[in-house]
Amino acid sequence: MESTTFVLFGATGDLAKRKIYPALYNLFVDQKLPHSFSVIGLGRRELSDEAFQANVEQSLRMFSRREVKDPVLVKKFLRTFRYSVLDVSRKEDYQKLLQLIEQQEAELRMAPNRMFYLSVGPEFFETIAANIQESGLGSADGWKRLVIEKPFGHDLQSARALNNNLSKAFTEDEIFRIDHYLGKPMVQKLEVLQQSNPVLQALWDNRYIANVQITANEIVGVEERAGYYDHVGAVRDMFQNHMLQLLMMLTIHLPNNSTSENVRFKKKLVMEALELLQKEDLSSHVVRGQYGAGTIQGKPVIGYNSEPNIAATSRNDTFIAVKLQIDDYSWRGVPFYIRTGKRMKDKSTRIVIEFKEPLKQSKANDDTKKPNLLVIEISPNESISLQLNTRNPQNKGEFKPMHIDFHESGDNVPEAYENLIGDALHGDSTFFAHWDEVELSWQWVQPILDAYEENRVPLHLYAAGSNGPAESDELLAQDGYHWWFDE
Ligand code: BG6
Repeated sequence: MESTTFVLFGATGDLAKRKIYPALYNLFVDQKLPHSFSVIGLGRRELSDEAFQANVEQSLRMFSRREVKDPVLVKKFLRTFRYSVLDVSRKEDYQKLLQLIEQQEAELRMAPNRMFYLSVGPEFFETIAANIQESGLGSADGWKRLVIEKPFGHDLQSARALNNNLSKAFTEDEIFRIDHYLGKPMVQKLEVLQQSNPVLQALWDNRYIANVQITANEIVGVEERAGYYDHVGAVRDMFQNHMLQLLMMLTIHLPNNSTSENVRFKKKLVMEALELLQKEDLSSHVVRGQYGAGTIQGKPVIGYNSEPNIAATSRNDTFIAVKLQIDDYSWRGVPFYIRTGKRMKDKSTRIVIEFKEPLKQSKANDDTKKPNLLVIEISPNESISLQLNTRNPQNKGEFKPMHIDFHESGDNVPEAYENLIGDALHGDSTFFAHWDEVELSWQWVQPILDAYEENRVPLHLYAAGSNGPAESDELLAQDGYHWWFDE
C-alpha cells in the first residue's frame, strides 16, 4: 500500500478516541496499514507530541477491540504520531501544518499522499476544505483524499450547497463520505450473500418475496446530544442516510465481479426507482413518533420532552416508520417497511425478508404453517437465519417452524471504522456514499421534511420500551402483515 500521512482534524475529540485510534491500531496489528504511515493530529488546544501519544494510548486501552498488552507494539504504532495546534480558520496554521507534513515525509521518505480526515462538526467542513486547497496541502506529486462523516447537509438545498463548496477543493473521487452502517461487516456481506448463492438469487424478487422489513431500533434516548438531535430527529439522523443505505445495499442487482463504480451506480438506480411519496400519501405511508416516559429493561425512563435541554413543547421525531416501493422489474409490488427509533424495547438492526406463500390455506392445519423468513441480524449480533416449516413431532398434522442459523461472533470481526478507514487508505470507495446517492436520498426525504415542518403528519407518542407507536403496526396490518420479532 502506498505511503500515507493521515491528517486528523479533531484529534482530541470523542470520535477520534472511541473509534478512529482503535481502528488504526487494529489495522496496524493486522498489518493492514501502509508500511510507511504517519499520523498528524490537529486540535485547538496546545499539546506536546508525547501528551498526544499518551492520550491515544489511553484510548486504545479503553476502546480497542484487541487487547493492548504488548508495549513494544504500541510504541511502534505511536512512533509516528505528531500533534499540531490548528484553528480551522487561521491560514498560518495550515502553512505550519504543511511544513510539518513535508518534514515528516522527508524524514520517513514518504511519497506525499495525504488523507485529511475531518472528525469535526459539519459546520467546519467547507472552511477546512477551502483552506486545504488554498494552502497547497494537496501535493501535485501524490494523492489527496478527504474523509467526512454525516450529516451531509440538513436538507436537499443545504446538502447541495455543501457539496458545491467541497467540490471546489476535492473531486468526487477524492471524497470519502462515511456512513458507518456501510462499514458494518454484515452490511458488507449483503451483496455477496445475494450474488454468490444461487438459491437466494433465484428467489430475490417480487415473484417470491411478499415484503421486506428493515428495522434499526435503539434503547438509548437522546443522551447528551439534545442540541444536535432536537434539530434533526430520526428522519435526518438515521432514515435519510443509514436506513436508505441499508435499503440500497439489499436491493441492488450486481453483475459478477462488481467494481466500486458498479456498486455505486446500481445504488443510484435503486434510489431513482424509489417511488416518490405524493403529498396525499404522506400520512398513510409515514409514521412519526416521539417517545414518552416508560420502562426499559425494568428501569423507568423519562419522556423526550422531559430530557435535559429539550423544550417541553418540542415536536421533534424520535421514531419514523415508512412504507415505500421500488418501481423496477424486480421489486415492483413488494412493500418495504422501514423503521427506526430511540428508546425502543431492544437494540437491534435487522432485515427480515418474508417470502410469499402461494399454497396458503390449501390444506387442513395450514394455519400452523409460518411463512419462510430470511432474517439478517446486522447488529449488535451478526447472524443469518432461514425459517422453514417442518412437521410437528408432537402433533403430526401440524407444522412447526425450523431455523437454519449462522452466527458470527468473537474478536475476529472488524469494526465498521476499521473496514472503512482501511478501504479509504486503499482508495476503495465501494462502501462510501457517493454524492449521487446522498442527493437522491435528500430528494426522496424532502417531502417528509416539508410535511413535518408544516405539521401535515401527526406526531404519535409511544411509551419508552415499546415497539413504537401503534400506527406503525397499522402500516403493515393494512396490507395483511405484521412486524416480525416484536413480541
Ligand atoms: C448515528 C446516529 O449515526 O448512529 C445516532 O447519529 C445513533 O443517533 C447511531 O445512535 C446508531 O448507530 P449504531 O451503530 O449503534 O446502530
